[in-house]
Amino acid sequence: MPAVRVKKSNAEEAKRILKRVGIYDGKRRPRREEENVLLPITDPEKAKNLGFEVVDIELPFRPERQIYKNLESILKDKFTKEELNFLRRYDVIGDIAVIQIPPEIEHREKEIVEALLKVHPFLKVIAKKGFHRGAFRIRDYSIIWGEKRLTTVHKENGVKIKVDLSRAFFNPRMKGERYRLAQLVRDGERVLLMFAGILPYALVIARYKNAKITAVELNEDAVKLGIENIQLNRDKLKGSIEIIKGNVFDVVPKLGTFDRVISPTPKGVDALRLALEKAEKWVHYYDFVHESKIEDFKERIISQCRELRKECKVKIKKVSDYKPHVFKVCADIELL
Ligand SMILES: C[S@@+](CC[C@H](N)C(=O)[O-])C[C@H]1O[C@@H](n2cnc3c(N)ncnc32)[C@H](O)[C@@H]1O
Repeated sequence: MPAVRVKKSNAEEAKRILKRVGIYDGKRRPRREEENVLLPITDPEKAKNLGFEVVDIELPFRPERQIYKNLESILKDKFTKEELNFLRRYDVIGDIAVIQIPPEIEHREKEIVEALLKVHPFLKVIAKKGFHRGAFRIRDYSIIWGEKRLTTVHKENGVKIKVDLSRAFFNPRMKGERYRLAQLVRDGERVLLMFAGILPYALVIARYKNAKITAVELNEDAVKLGIENIQLNRDKLKGSIEIIKGNVFDVVPKLGTFDRVISPTPKGVDALRLALEKAEKWVHYYDFVHESKIEDFKERIISQCRELRKECKVKIKKVSDYKPHVFKVCADIELL
């Protein structure tokens, strides 16, 4: 069976390319060899054309994947379409699944837990998620199955992230955004990361680029996890990360300027002007915007740039749904 042999340090990137061209074989498990990783593929010719070293090797199938592809395939005859729509939006963070269960079907929790365990047999905790609260954006969770903990190590984009859902914010759905930004950063850049949390953006950027990152975060528990996360990944990071514990609005004005400023802004906070002031070339500013107000948001950015005597080009990208007609967006702002 065909596989490609890649250096361990390139494995994440290679897997992404293979998935993008549709030839990664998710039904089989990759295998580590000393310095290399063997990634299963479906089309050796295509892989060769992409410049990969192709080998013929037996890689074992993932039995669970063959039988239970997803939650919907197990629950489709038992729940309504609307209920399934809700249930399928769960997240897996390390070995913890977090799921929202509407009150009407709370009494059927056991069936849902059983289905989740069939799809993800490695889970150790299943938690029901409540709402975000406070400035630190921590959610309420109640554990409905498994070990009584909300700590785990999550892997994404080639980094390990220690998470404690009871103490600090973490959103696995921003994985693609983190990768996107890491690709935009150039080696040698000075990057300011405001509202840095447990450092997922900083780690992914430093994993891929030799950037000098300054991260600012107010939640002491998030800062402690951030320091642990730097340690956890120290062998893999090309860049450096300095973490400052403090309020963005006190700390950042005292800092100099940066090539790039990233603001994963908490909901309801306005840090746009500060981000624009501190950036020399690029700002990536996240906010929550009603679809009818996206042009207004763009205009607000342009006018704040003008007030700071800066010209800019703005592109707004919808990142995820937040609630009906309201999106989490990222404004990619180039200062000219
Ligand atoms: C939406 S979360 C983003 C966290 C992180 N960047 C991530 O993507 O996981 C916002 C973060 O900002 C922190 N925060 C809120 N207000 C702050 C402030 N005034 N100064 C510094 N950090 C703040 C919260 O504790 C939280 O970790």
